[in-house]
Amino acid sequence: MYHKVSSEDIDFFVDLLADRCLFSQENKEKYSRDETEDLSYPPELVLKPKTSEEISKILSYCNQKLIPVTPAGARTGLSGGALAIHGGVLLSMELFNKILKIDEENYQVITEPGVITEDLQNTLKEKGLFYPPDPASKGSCFIGGNVAENSGGPKAVKYGVTSDYVLNLEVVLATGEIIWTGANVLKNATGYNLTQLMVGSEGTLGIVTKIVLKLIPHPTRDMLMLVPFFEAEEACKAVAAIFNAGITPSGLEFMERDALLLSQQMINNSTISIKDKHQAHLLIESDGFEEGIIMAECEKIMHVLENFNTDEILFAESEAQKSALWALRRKVGEAVKSKSIYKEEDTVVPRYALPELLKEVKSIGNDFGFESICYGHAGDGNLHVNILKGDLSDEKWEKELPTAIKKLFIKVKSLGGTLSGEHGIGLVQKQYMEIFFSKSTILMMKNIKKIFDPNLILNPGKIFPD
Ligand code: LAC
Ligand code: ZN
Repeated sequence: MYHKVSSEDIDFFVDLLADRCLFSQENKEKYSRDETEDLSYPPELVLKPKTSEEISKILSYCNQKLIPVTPAGARTGLSGGALAIHGGVLLSMELFNKILKIDEENYQVITEPGVITEDLQNTLKEKGLFYPPDPASKGSCFIGGNVAENSGGPKAVKYGVTSDYVLNLEVVLATGEIIWTGANVLKNATGYNLTQLMVGSEGTLGIVTKIVLKLIPHPTRDMLMLVPFFEAEEACKAVAAIFNAGITPSGLEFMERDALLLSQQMINNSTISIKDKHQAHLLIESDGFEEGIIMAECEKIMHVLENFNTDEILFAESEAQKSALWALRRKVGEAVKSKSIYKEEDTVVPRYALPELLKEVKSIGNDFGFESICYGHAGDGNLHVNILKGDLSDEKWEKELPTAIKKLFIKVKSLGGTLSGEHGIGLVQKQYMEIFFSKSTILMMKNIKKIFDPNLILNPGKIFPD
């Protein structure tokens, strides 16, 4: 149903964007990937607009010509959202890289989507302002991609995810119309919440060109501890116990033994000693403004942990040690993936169900013969399950693994969980959507998509099962 890009189309885009219209083999190859497995889908054309008006012209042209448009940010996504699976135009937002206005009086920032999340955070921090969502890729991902995927990260456990901070968006619709979805206010009971509908819509409803974010005062202190456990399930059980004691840490991360070991190898950091009997670790952070309160919170956490079978707890003694421990945690994903061909599932369950989820992952692994390495945002019940191909035959990997993953997600559903906590559905998870949603719910989502994008040109082939 889609049209290929013709030489006439290329002329139109070159007239509009000059050398910001790329179609060399090298560029098509470069923009054919994100961080999802080893997938590669070259677009026919890469466009790098600078203004909303340029995007409006691009979309209204593609809408008339039925050329698919795949929006892309820094291409750090893990569900294949930025892959141009139908070819067509890859719309790169990398030149939308300005922070437009920091409104210190109102604790808000207006930014373009192509700003690197960590750069935005650092600029705000200089003014004492805090934008908390901090995906592992924060040093390279774009804030626009975080909006598209509703990204989380370790801080989400205390401060919430991207959607908790998005107040208003400028969006270019598939027809070329430019709209604002809401208002720059903290309370809003005015009609349907189009702002929140856009967040997490993975580039399927419109192109976000300006983002208004809510900010909070930046905490001034934190403490970080690394807790070794002799049993991985026991570490998962301790997570709910910490919350049940009335504590909300600013980070509560789980790492299975191999996750930490591989990360240590990758960044060549042997400052912590992982003993043979350590099966998992919790990395726990407490933050705030007053040392006494943070100390008291850490003491309470240690008191809870006395009920569990842990080894000696390591308290980070310096800022450098804190950074080193967080670097180890942030590198886990990359380290695990460098070991083997893999599939990553972004399971999320109510946090009390975490031990049962981990048990099921291992039991399905035993039945199907795959190895898995689990880690993630335990405080949110969000467990990243990396399934490694290792020595499995291609036949087993391709034919039997989807059945195993389906089994896992049926269990996730029975535990009250869902398909993705923060990585999105994109291309690689869409085949599991029907486990979680009825036909009529999926149809409702598809109908919403049609209202925004009647010719289905925006990021086609994503989210919905084929
Ligand atoms: C992490 C990414 C993979 O938590 O979400 O490391
Ligand atoms: Zn994560």
